[in-house]
Amino acid sequence: MANTRSIRPAGAQELVQTVGRLPALPGVVSRLVEISSDQNASAADLSQVVSLDPGLLTSILKLANSAYYGCSRTVSDLEAAIMLLGFDQVRDLALSLNVIAAIEPPGVSAFSTREYWKHAFMAGSLARGFCRPLWRVYPGEHYVAGFLHDIGRLVLYLADPSAMREVVAGVNAGRDALAEERRVYGCDHAEVGGLACRHWRLPDRITAAVAAHHGAGLAREPSLAEQELVQMVHVADLLANRAGLGFTARRPRHRLAPAIRLALARRGVWLRRSRLAPLVARTAAEVEATAQILAVGQPAASEGG
Ligand SMILES: [Fe+2]
Ligand SMILES: [Fe+2]
Repeated sequence: MANTRSIRPAGAQELVQTVGRLPALPGVVSRLVEISSDQNASAADLSQVVSLDPGLLTSILKLANSAYYGCSRTVSDLEAAIMLLGFDQVRDLALSLNVIAAIEPPGVSAFSTREYWKHAFMAGSLARGFCRPLWRVYPGEHYVAGFLHDIGRLVLYLADPSAMREVVAGVNAGRDALAEERRVYGCDHAEVGGLACRHWRLPDRITAAVAAHHGAGLAREPSLAEQELVQMVHVADLLANRAGLGFTARRPRHRLAPAIRLALARRGVWLRRSRLAPLVARTAAEVEATAQILAVGQPAASEGG
């Protein structure tokens, strides 16, 4: 049945207040973002951060010892886990699990946070996976921007949960997600996500990429690195949705933004389905396994289990 409640845009002020009330990200996240931005960061730097957090250490060892990674012997220390899973994977997992623990809202009923976080993992992992062969720039920030790109959706939910239920119902009925958010909230999740990143004092490049990941709101003359980050996140988001890792029942109708298609073409980058399919399938399998092994997120109340 259609939702007939009267539309009450949450309004900029309410949203800004919600952003201001967001919990601080733990110090370990800032340190991990620094490590992501530092091409000279070592496994020892990462071990130092992870070993300070017993819960995080347990999660990483659990993943390393899972059947998915199929190690023939028990992995009992962090160094061995980093060898098996890889430096980037452990660094990004550590960051993601800390963000989830800090801001997962309790009792979300509008959508499944499990699906939401899987989408975030997928976009971050794809942004990281694309980076090496196509853009050849340091990949750390790409994961962070990819993982956080839709964080504005959680902020919108926190500002007005019933309005988010209306947005999700609209998307599942085939309407455009951004247009629904603007209609119901008066702004969209990309805009609000940028505010949240600024609140958390994340690097400007990441903040700009989150704010512009649907192809709008770019600074007038963004740096090349900023443009690349936006392109990467935009494409990773698109592929995550096409791979079925979105957080609404109906896949959003995202198309490659014309400006980003043009920018990619100018650089001779063509997104060939045949080339990307193996990467997307492998990443989706890894995300599914990770989310399941670590029991990330919760299903929506209506999913019943
Ligand atoms: Fe988005
Ligand atoms: Fe997204």
